[in-house]
Amino acid sequence: MFFGSVTALLSLASTSFGKILYAGVNESGGEFGVFAPGQKGFGLPGRFGVDFAFINKSTIDIFVDQEKINFFRVTFLMERMAPLEFGLGSKFNETYFSEYADAINYITQTKGVYALIDPHNYMRYNDPSQQPFSGSVIGNTSDPTAATTAQFGQFWHELARRFATNPKVVFGINNEPHDMPTELVLQNNQAAINGIRQAGANQLILAPGNGFTGGHSWNQTTGAGDAPSSDFLNKLVDPLHNTAIDVHEVDIQSPSNLAGLTAWLQENNLK
Ligand SMILES: *[C@@H]1O[C@H](CO)[C@@H](O)[C@H](O)[C@H]1NC(C)=O
Ligand SMILES: *[C@@H]1O[C@H](CO)[C@@H](O)[C@H](O)[C@H]1NC(C)=O
Ligand SMILES: *[C@@H]1O[C@H](CO)[C@@H](O)[C@H](O)[C@H]1NC(C)=O
Ligand SMILES: *[C@@H]1O[C@H](CO)[C@@H](O)[C@H](O)[C@H]1NC(C)=O
Ligand SMILES: *[C@@H]1O[C@H](CO)[C@@H](O)[C@H](O)[C@H]1NC(C)=O
Repeated sequence: MFFGSVTALLSLASTSFGKILYAGVNESGGEFGVFAPGQKGFGLPGRFGVDFAFINKSTIDIFVDQEKINFFRVTFLMERMAPLEFGLGSKFNETYFSEYADAINYITQTKGVYALIDPHNYMRYNDPSQQPFSGSVIGNTSDPTAATTAQFGQFWHELARRFATNPKVVFGINNEPHDMPTELVLQNNQAAINGIRQAGANQLILAPGNGFTGGHSWNQTTGAGDAPSSDFLNKLVDPLHNTAIDVHEVDIQSPSNLAGLTAWLQENNLK
């Protein structure tokens, strides 16, 4: 089923030069095979081509050659890339990484188009069995089993180091954080940006907000009273000024839903 699950990516981003429009496709699959309520650890590490897969190369060929798609979001699961026995950080499962890198390299080098690296984790790590709600929030200092913000930074440093020389790669910090302090979303994003830049990687970074990074609620309280993304996300610092805001919007029929977000982006000179 995962091979067929390719849907249009709704979040379009433009680079800091502002001229390239990405026409994108969402390649799900790398995070599949772990959903099992009450069975923590189910499907980990998982079997490549059975429980999970990244891309179907023939489908990529069709999208690029015939449909002129130039941007693919490729999801993976952090519990597979950085297995629980190692903990979140710079020690990877090299088999999983090489399967992922093969997909990214096919898109970016063989086909010459963009790939968005997407840790599909909702800013949580250690129990994907009921995503998006299970797992410890990264950086939750009240939870002794939670990975720390520093570990998240190390993870991104290592991942970015491995793709640092590939200009067609875009780094998506995490898929859809939600129900956590917005200040912590900011801190985790900042740790990732710092890790990526310290690794010598200069590519575009996409930083998500809280509330599943919803555009319509950008200046609103989400979850159980978490501060609006607009209160914190303008405090991100990227020494290269090459970070854009990652927005996921389901109701694209009503541009007025995005008025708050748009006003905030303009006020803060962000994209
Ligand atoms: C993109 O893929 C993810 C991961 O499989 C999925 O959860 C999400 O619904 C997809 N988004 C869209 C807009 O199709
Ligand atoms: C890959 O995509 C091609 C073309 O869309 C399709 O014919 C083939 O069955 C797919 N392979 C798998 C393993 O899903
Ligand atoms: C690493 O991932 C592969 C699948 O990509 C899996 O077969 C293998 O068991 C994993 N190894 C560890 C140590 O988790
Ligand atoms: C942080 O951990 C504590 C203790 O487990 C928990 O009560 C709290 O809900 C967690 N916070 C978040 C945002 O998940
Ligand atoms: C969000 O921004 C919009 C557009 O500027 C505004 O109409 C709305 O009142 C704002 N919402 C909040 C909660 O500030």
